[in-house]
Amino acid sequence: AVIHRADYRPPAWLVPDIALDFVLDLTETRVSATLDVERNPAAQDATAPLRLNGDGIVAGAVLVDGEPHNAWAMEGDDLVIDLPGSAHQVTIETTINPTANTQLSGLYASGGLLCTQCEAEGFRRITFFPDRPDVLSCYTVTLTADKAQFPVLLSNGNPVDSGEEDDGSHWAIWHDPWPKPSYLFALVAGDLVPTRDRFTTASGRAVDLAIWVRAGDETRTGHAMRSLIASMQWDEKVYGREYDLDLFNIVAVSDFNAGAMENKGLNIFNTRYILADPDTATDGDYDAVEGVVAHEYFHNWSGNRVTCRDWFQLSLKEGFTVLRDQQFSADRGSPPVKRIEDVRILRAAQFPEDSGPLAHPIRPDSYQEISNFYTATVYNKGAEVIRMMTVLAGPERFRAGTDLYFERHDGQAATCEDFVTAIEEGAQIDLAQFRRWYEQAGTPRVDVALSHDPVSGRVTLALKQTVPPTPGQSVKQPMVIPLRTALFDRQSGTHGGEHLIVLTQGQQQFTFEGHARPPVLSINRGFSAPVAIIAPQTVEDLVFLAAHDDDPFARYEAMQQLVVQHLVAAVEGRLDDDAREAGRKAIGGALAAILADAGLDDLMRGELVMLPGEAYLAEQLNPVDPARVHAEREALKAWLGRELAPAWTALHDRCAAVPFSLDAAARGARKLKTQALVYLAAADPQGTALRAKAQYDAADNMTDRQGALMVLCGLDCPQREEALDHFHARFADNRLVIDKWFSLQAGSLHPDALAHVQALAHHPDFTLTNPNRVRALYMAMAANPAAFHAADGAGYRTIADLILALDPINGNVAARFVAPLGRWRRVEPGRAALMRAELERIAAAPRLSRDVREQVSKSLEA
Ligand code: ARG
Ligand code: ZN
Repeated sequence: AVIHRADYRPPAWLVPDIALDFVLDLTETRVSATLDVERNPAAQDATAPLRLNGDGIVAGAVLVDGEPHNAWAMEGDDLVIDLPGSAHQVTIETTINPTANTQLSGLYASGGLLCTQCEAEGFRRITFFPDRPDVLSCYTVTLTADKAQFPVLLSNGNPVDSGEEDDGSHWAIWHDPWPKPSYLFALVAGDLVPTRDRFTTASGRAVDLAIWVRAGDETRTGHAMRSLIASMQWDEKVYGREYDLDLFNIVAVSDFNAGAMENKGLNIFNTRYILADPDTATDGDYDAVEGVVAHEYFHNWSGNRVTCRDWFQLSLKEGFTVLRDQQFSADRGSPPVKRIEDVRILRAAQFPEDSGPLAHPIRPDSYQEISNFYTATVYNKGAEVIRMMTVLAGPERFRAGTDLYFERHDGQAATCEDFVTAIEEGAQIDLAQFRRWYEQAGTPRVDVALSHDPVSGRVTLALKQTVPPTPGQSVKQPMVIPLRTALFDRQSGTHGGEHLIVLTQGQQQFTFEGHARPPVLSINRGFSAPVAIIAPQTVEDLVFLAAHDDDPFARYEAMQQLVVQHLVAAVEGRLDDDAREAGRKAIGGALAAILADAGLDDLMRGELVMLPGEAYLAEQLNPVDPARVHAEREALKAWLGRELAPAWTALHDRCAAVPFSLDAAARGARKLKTQALVYLAAADPQGTALRAKAQYDAADNMTDRQGALMVLCGLDCPQREEALDHFHARFADNRLVIDKWFSLQAGSLHPDALAHVQALAHHPDFTLTNPNRVRALYMAMAANPAAFHAADGAGYRTIADLILALDPINGNVAARFVAPLGRWRRVEPGRAALMRAELERIAAAPRLSRDVREQVSKSLEA
């Protein structure tokens, strides 16, 4: 069934209070839910029955106002109760088996713990309830369990009471004073140890902080705790948002579909976004922990205090919260480097979504399974859209807008429209046309032409925007596209100030006076709009910008563009030997200048020397031959490795001498160290195997170790097996590190990577029941173009086999693997047919989850 945004109706009944009573057990948990229900005065039908959602549960008993009640019936999964009058107390009993819950939605068991994941629609797998985010209730939760097996009992809000019984059981009562939708409910029971700290809010509330992990892991919680405290401080300072309970608990679990979950006062995390120490976590892992801890904490205001009216509004909380976590991480580290990373993710994950069969606006109009809409579009493009508001309004006015939003909608289930209206009024800007960013899918393309009149000194910038058609949206209206722009004088190397150009029409011209010479155009600086710029920039202009632009993002962009233009021409067969040589020389020269530029810090240098990824290159070609993209990119890398070999070697030596620390300089050195190895390995595999093995052996931290192992994994050399075996043996008891061991092999440049994946699927450490392990092996492979796009279709078959095997276990995670196959329409015809055939094979399976069914059928539709 397709659910439409336009069909929204207010709930017929509200549930101001709910009491939940759990008798917890790994295989047989008894749940008694008592709901105080009352008719919603805003409902359209004042006689509607009470409809409670369920999913795979049966009602043991139904009581109304304490009496057995028979006037109810099951309609599909829903329990529908005929209720006269306007207010009642309804009690329902259910029994569930958490161990059998392999979907990891609702209440499930993870390594002997019991925990929950209720967003979006998991609560209905626990008890019958109007499981929609516009029904807000105060929760009182009683947990009873065997004390030895489950010594810690946690739920949302504050602990009220606890006690022990003679039979070895104990109990705890929790009360959350903040009304919340059911998707924010959580409980955890198990043997956990806390890391504790305290935070005092600006207005003086003392908050007890605790991060709960399994015994042995508590030595790796320090970074997460520091990140939490920094997040709490930052949200007070930057958005004026304070925490609102006396307690803030975080629990880390090993089996988790997503990254983490913002349950009120009880965030539950995938261990990979909590546990970190230098021996087991890379610098990237440290950043991910900091970013996700902040993201979930920030949800307390953007998500919990102000929640979503319905799931079409998901970007209301996710887009805004991603923006907030991006701003936080930028403040904590290097703003330009963070901006570049964010854009790289957007281009690698969201641009392909926007150009494929699953394209949807940041506020979708319809869905079959909401879990399929936790996408890079809703999250990352959603963040870009709100970031554009900050560009249009400026920081102070934007803050006035968010202040108004939080004040006006505190305690409400709001819409994206509410958010835009609040920003409009608070920031005093007109967002009428801007709202199209919520309506239209597809990455806008902006074609740029620059002309110069030497007599008048006038520069004319002619811009033309096109929003490509996407499924269900064949005709598009012009968007509001804010473009930060500068015109550089090529002799002085400077510009006379940045302009904010706001493109609102299909075609528009902008003029600038006072340019004696044709300037060099720097446009979409800081990536001020999530669009594709098509500007006919010469190699000379790009080399100039890569060396001189005072906007660090624009420097990065010029470097990327220089390589993109060259590789696209190479793949399309437009380069003769001379042109290829000239293109390579220009790139090599720009790269050499970056390596030698003393004004750059190493973290930024690390961004500038990175080649554009194959997914982003593929976006520039339609149809794409992935094998040619791969071959040309590897050939360029090898050429650059050879041509600049002395510089790479010197760089590797210099960086290897920097002692370990978590400061920016040492992190920059580590980033460059492995990048130097990557270039050198492409040019001289044998010599570099020795150098990489030396880096591996000398490593006193996971960044160096993983970087070296990554390079070794791509080489056919004895050091490869040696290092892999050593790594596995050394970290055999650390699941997160063993995940790395799987993904490094699956993502490697080794010609047999696909065969390695097929063999690793039978490794004793592999299991389909742990999402991190599944992603480590198969997402890494799906993102490895040479393996996934193997000419005989074996990569596609491997992913389709995985989807079919995983779907009955965990449809949510299985559905994530459909998108790579779904891109068949943009791939050359031979491979496209093979990809399509695998989708058809999946579609023909007798039983599929709603998750996989939706993604596969959309991927096959014309
Ligand atoms: N709200 C969570 C977060 O972004 C993610 C929940 C994921 N749920 C899902 N059904 N995929 O922090
Ligand atoms: Zn989120």
